[in-house]
Amino acid sequence: MATQQRKILVTSALPYANGSIHLGHLVEYIQTDIWVRFQKMQGHDCIYVCADDAHGTPIMLRAQNEGITPEQLIARIDKEHRADFAGFGIGFDNFHSTHSDENRELASLIYTRLRDGGYIRTRTIKQAYDPEKQMFLPDRFIKGTCPKCGADDQYGDNCEACGATYSPTELKNPVSAVSGATPIEKESEHYFFDLGAFGDMLKEWTHEEHMQPAIRHKLNEWLEGGLQDWDISRDAPYFGFEIPGAPNKYFYVWLDAPIGYLASLKNLCAKRPELDFDSYIKEDSEAEMYHFIGKDIAYFHTLFWPAMLTGAGMRKPSAVFCHGFLTVNGQKMSKSRGTFIQARTYLDHLNPQYLRYYFAAKLGSGIDDLDLNLDDFMARVNSDLVGKVVNIASRCAGFINKKYDGKLSAQCSEIKLYEAFEANGRLIAELYEKREFNQAIREIMALADRANQYIDEKKPWALAKQAGMEQEVQEACSTGLNLFRILITYLKPVLPTMAEQAEAFLNIPPLDWLAIAQPLTGHTISEFQPLLTRVEQDKIDALLADTKKLLAANAPAEPRKITKSIKMDPIAEQIEYDDFAKIDLRIAKIVKAEHVAGADKLLQLTLDIGGETRNVFAGIKSAYAPEDLEGKLTVMVANLAPRKMRFGMSEGMVLAAGPGGKDLFVLHPDDGALPGMRVK
Ligand code: MSP
Ligand code: ZN
Repeated sequence: MATQQRKILVTSALPYANGSIHLGHLVEYIQTDIWVRFQKMQGHDCIYVCADDAHGTPIMLRAQNEGITPEQLIARIDKEHRADFAGFGIGFDNFHSTHSDENRELASLIYTRLRDGGYIRTRTIKQAYDPEKQMFLPDRFIKGTCPKCGADDQYGDNCEACGATYSPTELKNPVSAVSGATPIEKESEHYFFDLGAFGDMLKEWTHEEHMQPAIRHKLNEWLEGGLQDWDISRDAPYFGFEIPGAPNKYFYVWLDAPIGYLASLKNLCAKRPELDFDSYIKEDSEAEMYHFIGKDIAYFHTLFWPAMLTGAGMRKPSAVFCHGFLTVNGQKMSKSRGTFIQARTYLDHLNPQYLRYYFAAKLGSGIDDLDLNLDDFMARVNSDLVGKVVNIASRCAGFINKKYDGKLSAQCSEIKLYEAFEANGRLIAELYEKREFNQAIREIMALADRANQYIDEKKPWALAKQAGMEQEVQEACSTGLNLFRILITYLKPVLPTMAEQAEAFLNIPPLDWLAIAQPLTGHTISEFQPLLTRVEQDKIDALLADTKKLLAANAPAEPRKITKSIKMDPIAEQIEYDDFAKIDLRIAKIVKAEHVAGADKLLQLTLDIGGETRNVFAGIKSAYAPEDLEGKLTVMVANLAPRKMRFGMSEGMVLAAGPGGKDLFVLHPDDGALPGMRVK
């Protein structure tokens, strides 16, 4: 495989510096890391850079809430992120920050080139403004009643209850999530990037092999819909870079975020003089540049970013690779279900290599979502890695170490078999290159099956009991270990730690695709050490239990604000159990019903009591499946003090009639009863 050495720059999306890394993020970093390690093993000159995405309103406000400066916040998160990534073996060549000198310089450079090229214009726009906090409010910081379904406490851009999208001005009873004040509309001058000027360039770019078919399809839709100017400025107060020549105006976080890729590269070039920054970014660069991202941010990477680079006279990405989203046990990662698992919590209980392997076994080149099913996770890792791969070594090493002083046979007795394994490396390499990791893993496991079959047929343990079979035993075990060495080579991009341990055990230099051209003969290996232990159910249980604890500790301490319903009687004053007589009963519509992970009696209900939604945990799982409850009516105690339960806050109590068990009844939809009606 004497291919020409390629020069490759690879990035993963920059994680926001206001939250922890979770298993969803890790799909991306593990996918990218496997690809990069594979390229490096092929002998290519490949560098992998990333950074924290440190700017924007959420980070500014979170720092304020914690009573620290944004700089202090991002320094703390930077440490945390680095440690989490290191824990999962993500081998960045550099990890930097968008709040850095390099990024300030590059953002200014790119912006001034765009401005001087005539691609920036200004316009005065009206926006929601918090008169108390004296700041403009991003959509996510305005809350109110959904204009479509009437659900309360919804964000300014979309409704979590009915899925509607709208603009914050359409919200009913809008309030600022920062101060609680009613937002006003205020004018201000904004800076816009003329994306439309790059329409032809983008149309052409899309037709080439720069993205997956599904993304290309989406991009064509956007292009046909017409390209709007992109608002790239934000008013003070904002945590970011001030726009050159525009006092009190700041770059919108998404303007300087992708530039952060280049800033991290520039920072790396300063540490490694042999790397030449310009050679990577000049218009006719011979280097390849790939961005791995989640499908949610394709818009930024396939439209704005290539347009910005072109306008600034720089090269465009060679390709943008999108992946799908992680689900856990078939559902969106969720705080209420306790499946919002953080990287650190995982590391507290389980070996990171299990997850790297599992994701690899599931990841293809498409943008489908992938599911972490915890039962399947355990079964798959145990059967493939422990049962098949490690097993080959543990079955053969003992004989070689004990009977032959650690020495492998002088010749490979099964050269055909060895060559067949080695020849498969071309296909496996192709699959890695195309990011078809799941298919690569399938090929590797088929080889592992063949290796085990070979040992089963040779039965060294039986041969060892027969006189005069010493050479056969040594040869069979040596072949087994040689096949194991090939398998570990193929798995090395996925399991770098295990590969390193295997290299120590086999007493060989770092493995790569070229190293396995010849089998090891007459070579002395070291003592065998167990390479990987089984995934244990109790570790998974502990991981889930810790996740729940962490989520409960971070849950907002206050119950949601209760706003008054408009048409109905005002809701009575809050009562305690003793005041039961004062109870305020309401008809409630069950909008959503869900299982509660770890609870055998409870269901979590989202109730609509007429212009107000409540979250209630109800012990009626014995009688109803969640899907049977949705759309039904029930009676609830509407003025019971919210109670913090093990699974979250319960904002009221549902009444059902019947003797219990399967016989518990809620009301059926009925034209006469309306959500919020008082029960007399
Ligand atoms: N800061 C931006 C990216 C700027 S890149 C110039 C951002 N940050 S993020 O922290 O929200 O997400 C980082 C990456 O993780 C994104 O590519 C995102 O798609 C990915 N994921 C976040 N949650 C995910 C899942 N649940 N599943 C898979 N990937 C996920 O977006
Ligand atoms: Zn709605």
